[in-house]
Amino acid sequence: MSNSAQIGVTGLAVMGRNLARNFARNGYAVALHNRTAARTHALVEEFGSEGDFIATETAKEFVAALERPRRLVIMVKAGEPTDAVIQEFAPLLEPGDMIIDGGNAHFADTRRRERELREQGIHFVGAGISGGEEGALNGPSIMPGGPVESYESLGPMLEKISAKAEDGAPCVTHVGPDGAGHFVKMVHNGIEYADMQLIGEAYQLLRDVAGYSPAQIADIFRTWNTGRLDSYLIEITAEVLSHVDEATGKPFVDVVQDQAEQKGTGRWTVQIALDLGVPVSGIAEAVFARSLSGHSALREASRGLAGPSATALSESEASAFADQVEQALYASKIVSYTQGFHEVAAGSAEYDWNIDLGAVASIWRGGCIIRAAFLDRIREAYDAQAELPSLLSDDTFAQEIAAAQDDWRAVLVSAVQQGVPTPGFAAALAYYDALRAERLPAALTQGQRDFFALDGVPHLPDRHRRELRGRRREAPHRPPQSD
Ligand code: 6PG
Repeated sequence: MSNSAQIGVTGLAVMGRNLARNFARNGYAVALHNRTAARTHALVEEFGSEGDFIATETAKEFVAALERPRRLVIMVKAGEPTDAVIQEFAPLLEPGDMIIDGGNAHFADTRRRERELREQGIHFVGAGISGGEEGALNGPSIMPGGPVESYESLGPMLEKISAKAEDGAPCVTHVGPDGAGHFVKMVHNGIEYADMQLIGEAYQLLRDVAGYSPAQIADIFRTWNTGRLDSYLIEITAEVLSHVDEATGKPFVDVVQDQAEQKGTGRWTVQIALDLGVPVSGIAEAVFARSLSGHSALREASRGLAGPSATALSESEASAFADQVEQALYASKIVSYTQGFHEVAAGSAEYDWNIDLGAVASIWRGGCIIRAAFLDRIREAYDAQAELPSLLSDDTFAQEIAAAQDDWRAVLVSAVQQGVPTPGFAAALAYYDALRAERLPAALTQGQRDFFALDGVPHLPDRHRRELRGRRREAPHRPPQSD
């Protein structure tokens, strides 16, 4: 077999297959490999005319089909299957070759794999790829991490197959060393969860408070999609809401079970944020909202609990309320991106990745699930000031939130009064108010900690320590000392 393939893809389920086709359609010769060879041959049979495919049946054949340095993309399930594939191929590779993991791997696994393979001289590139099946085929947003040398030969290929932003820039950049790419993809997914939750809350408010039908709400989302909320997720929400279930004639959203699944990347975003000490409350609420939705027995047992029932608004009130919801959604969205970018900055500092936040915003402008017009403005904000303490410190975003805040608060008042759960909107507003507060009750929390753990608190001035000790002696129900 001649070693003429410029890239190889192993793992030909839908994402791998579409990525392989994307490379081939862009003029690259692509070696194909899959655990079951039937899938490889089916791809060539169905799509062989799209480009230059080299079907292989064994790992050896696959490796032999690749030009040097070899570029081998693995598109298998995260976790053990990825390790198994690496173990199968690594012994067949030579120094300078590259393994590119395009799955949704945990960045800590990517860091480990990169370290292990580096010892053999193999470049391991953990590349987050976003855009689902359609993106993989027609242009995804790609977030590669790993050795910078690998990007020299791999980068131009990824740029070719990636989505292009409106200004023509490819939606790919070398994010940083080892796990940086998968870390950024993880946070992308966390933001995706938050975006979806906020959109869901807007929908429910428009339905339960304003009294609109799903079809009317679809129209509202379509209108929003022509303005500052212009994004893929708003666009598809309109599509989902206007979809009618053929069997019953009812809106699809009313017949489908109201339980949202998760594969785990949103949960990782929150777990890692907790470790890094970054408050990503909006993303956390989105993860918890999905998990609450799945507790059917608990929900069933709680349905009869007391609460207000919504009162319908007049047509003009409903329309004014919809405008307020747009403001609340936009302001909450700014907050969830603020939290997500904070996490990327914190991860970058922790692991010495030196991630360019403006570049991250730039490559999320096209191809990925959270692509949105608004990301162009985030890019501008970080390009103007790379060390921006928070997106909320950017003048434009601060002004927009200032203009939105009355409506944002009014929407939350309605939600609370009418009993519509809006954890995402509420968490975003609480974050905003906490950040701008002159004083936080954390002083009191610290006082409480000092009270029951005096000796373990080095920063407490002696005068306060003495005073609190004295008071503790007088306290009627003194808790056991833990220190
Ligand atoms: C993407 C998506 C994709 C998937 C996520 C979220 O960027 O193309 O984020 O990776 O949608 O894994 O999936 P869950 O909602 O199932 O966790």
